[in-house]
Amino acid sequence: MSQNSKVKGKISWQSPSNIALIKYWGKHGNQLPCNPSLSMSLKLSVTTTSLSYNYKEKGKNVDLEFLFNGKRSKQFEKRVGNYLNNLLKEYPYLVDYHLIIDSSNNFPHSSGIASSASAFSALALCIMSLKEICLGDIDRKEFFQEASNLARLGSGSASRSVYGGYTIWGKVEGSTHYSDDYASLLKSTIHPVFQTFYDAILIVSGENKKVGSSAGHSLMEKHPFAKSRYQQAMNHTIEMIDVLETGDMDRFIEIIENEALTLHGLMMSSDPGYILIKSETIEIIERIRNFRQTQKIPITFTLDAGPNVHVLYPESYRKEVIKFIEDELVVLCNAGQWINDSTGKGPKLLNIQ
Ligand code: PMV
Repeated sequence: MSQNSKVKGKISWQSPSNIALIKYWGKHGNQLPCNPSLSMSLKLSVTTTSLSYNYKEKGKNVDLEFLFNGKRSKQFEKRVGNYLNNLLKEYPYLVDYHLIIDSSNNFPHSSGIASSASAFSALALCIMSLKEICLGDIDRKEFFQEASNLARLGSGSASRSVYGGYTIWGKVEGSTHYSDDYASLLKSTIHPVFQTFYDAILIVSGENKKVGSSAGHSLMEKHPFAKSRYQQAMNHTIEMIDVLETGDMDRFIEIIENEALTLHGLMMSSDPGYILIKSETIEIIERIRNFRQTQKIPITFTLDAGPNVHVLYPESYRKEVIKFIEDELVVLCNAGQWINDSTGKGPKLLNIQ
């Protein structure tokens, strides 16, 4: 234990989930992405994590109790324990304490919303606050950069959740600003239409995925389309940076839908191929495209690694889109569940004792 350290205390962070507009699919080395990804952090779908630490005799491994939604979870305890043990070289003080991590999501567990992004981001931020307690204050920019790097080691998409607004993770051709090691806030100005954007998450199914994202990333290693996919994602990222600045809605919609369908196309054309979307997913997509065409309202969709549909639309059409969702899409949702989320401001430090 260093001189600055406290004997016991508790740190709590709240961190959002994010939705990728340009998808990360395929990794190499120690959780490094094969292409850049660009995401929007959400406002409502968040994980709250507290890290309680209590000084004890130094051990060899991290001494951890993990609670998920208030209940001890041996499954998460093992995963997070391995994650923390792998960090000991850089964060040796983690073995100076008995740690209790208490993590909960404010979105339903059965909603099928990927929680690893918000969960690993909140945890990484708690680890960074503990680092400050043990070693002293860290410059804010470095603090979030290192938190993003730490979050990435738990789950790639989590690297993007340590910021609000729009974030890029992965090197971008022609720019020295972005890195494979951590995510950064989008450097350019965001057009007013995209500053507050809505993401209505339609819960088509809450079932566990048949093929998880780790297995999906691995299947990209021998994927016949991998090379051209990585180049496409690079091109889309470069174009999307421009679109978010100029407010070019037509091009936004084309890129967004292409990214969503490409992600699932890659899953279907993997060896072995697999399908995560459901018939309701396709029906919702058809209805969104039809509504856009007939009503001339700029509404679009994206998909994560699952059957749920993220309906993206500008704030100014909120009333019309909510009515459309309630009248035509809710019937296709599992138990009528949907969450009207939107662009969020990023993580919050809730408490430090
Ligand atoms: O962070 P992971 O390893 O769970 O991978 C997430 C991949 C996608 O959610 C499908 C896309 C993305 O960029 O978030």
